[in-house]
Amino acid sequence: MAIKPIQIAPNPVLRKIAEPVEIITDETRQLLDDMAQTMYDAPGIGLAGPQIGELKRLIVMDCSRNDEANELWQMVNPEITQFSEESALHEEGCLSIPGHNAEVTRPIWVELRFLDTGGKERQIKAEGLLAACVQHEIDHLNGVLFIDHISKLKRDIIWRKVLKESRQS
Ligand code: NI
Repeated sequence: MAIKPIQIAPNPVLRKIAEPVEIITDETRQLLDDMAQTMYDAPGIGLAGPQIGELKRLIVMDCSRNDEANELWQMVNPEITQFSEESALHEEGCLSIPGHNAEVTRPIWVELRFLDTGGKERQIKAEGLLAACVQHEIDHLNGVLFIDHISKLKRDIIWRKVLKESRQS
């Protein structure tokens, strides 16, 4: 496994649409393992392909608490099939927008389908933190960032800082 460099905003790769994975190979599994290692190393609770410059519909997540055993999810071509009507507010951050957080409103549960690392189709219902996380990660596959879900005023404040920080680095 290898830790990959995380692409930081305003890198345009974060605004691109990722391509579906047609065939799951050892290379796909290697990439998912690299993504998991990169996420744990950061540390973060989720990572999507475009964040390491791979425009493929791959995400990894682990929303377990510190006092719980790891619960690693590795998903290929994840797709939300149903959203709850009820929404909740979660404080979100992103490894590609380090140092910035904002409260984001999202459906409290989602049903989704994806392929696992063996290519088997799976369907799950995600709730709580996992629901917010999976929506955040699938957004990345569509070039959407969490700041797109907040008010323009708050987004502009964060974006100005992001641009300033990118000029300084
Ligand atoms: Ni993110």
